[in-house]
Amino acid sequence: MQSEIIHILKQAQKFVSGEEISNALGLSRTAIWKSVNDLRERGYAITAVPRKGYFLEECPDTLYPWEIQEGLKARVFGRKVIHKDTVESTMDLASQYADQGAEHGSVFCAETQTRGRGRMGRQWVSPPGQGIYASLLLRPEISLTESTKMVFLAGVALHEAVASVTGLDVHIKWPNDLLIGSKKLAGILTELRAQSDRIDRLIIGIGMNVNTPKKELFPQATSLSAEGGKKYFRVRLFQEFLFLCEQRYEQALKEGFEPALSDWKKHCRLWGERVAVEMGQGVVEGIVSDLADDGGLIIQLDDGRQQKIVTGDIARLRREHGN
Ligand code: BTN
Repeated sequence: MQSEIIHILKQAQKFVSGEEISNALGLSRTAIWKSVNDLRERGYAITAVPRKGYFLEECPDTLYPWEIQEGLKARVFGRKVIHKDTVESTMDLASQYADQGAEHGSVFCAETQTRGRGRMGRQWVSPPGQGIYASLLLRPEISLTESTKMVFLAGVALHEAVASVTGLDVHIKWPNDLLIGSKKLAGILTELRAQSDRIDRLIIGIGMNVNTPKKELFPQATSLSAEGGKKYFRVRLFQEFLFLCEQRYEQALKEGFEPALSDWKKHCRLWGERVAVEMGQGVVEGIVSDLADDGGLIIQLDDGRQQKIVTGDIARLRREHGN
């Protein structure tokens, strides 16, 4: 009901009487008044004036379902949104709902995570209300082989959402980190469950430092506010991501992954760079030459051989200058 009240007030953009709201929703004026107070506790600034009614002054930048859905251009991604104040990890939340049959395109987000996880068993620090911590549940009708490309598709969508909403100069680092300069802004984690070649679920987790102050970040990380010098609206960023991700997904179903992969390559600045890759057996060094079809990174080794990196972390090395 709170979402319906917010919807009415947002649409009106003027005072709406308690009576009008109660008629529209078939509820008593006392029930409306109680809900308005609950909404205020959730951070909505709602003015109430006798004989005029309620006026919505300001909405909080919280990833409430109704905030994400109001004005959302995506049709399927985000049609269902589950929002929690605190969770261990939105990946687990998504997985629990997936077990109960949650549909393709459902979104699970939280204001904070107590055990947010990143790639390679790392932790994802999730300070309350400052970032986007969300998981998108997909039941993609693609083969298991193709599914490895989904993370690149999500990476392109995230890159484009950040670039278009903020205008900041972001780029992608393999496999799917979003960077500004050399600092990490966002990361993507995917978890998949399949039976033979049929994908039961693919969960795409997005973690982004949006309004996190510099002092709360690791030295190698950054946030949009730290870079742009102002606060950014998380809801708007996330809506744009959902829309672009859905568009890219529909495009992939029709035309394949080539357009997404080729745009991914444009947003990645590693080509021709000398890098070191930490692998289980040691460190490999070489020049980044291409992205393989399965999403591996192809490195040209010093002895001329090519090596495909399937998993790992890469570090850019300083170029050696001759004189
Ligand atoms: C990375 O290591 O770069 C990936 C980070 C992914 C973090 C997000 S936050 C939302 C979702 N829930 C998690 O526990 N992890 C992902």
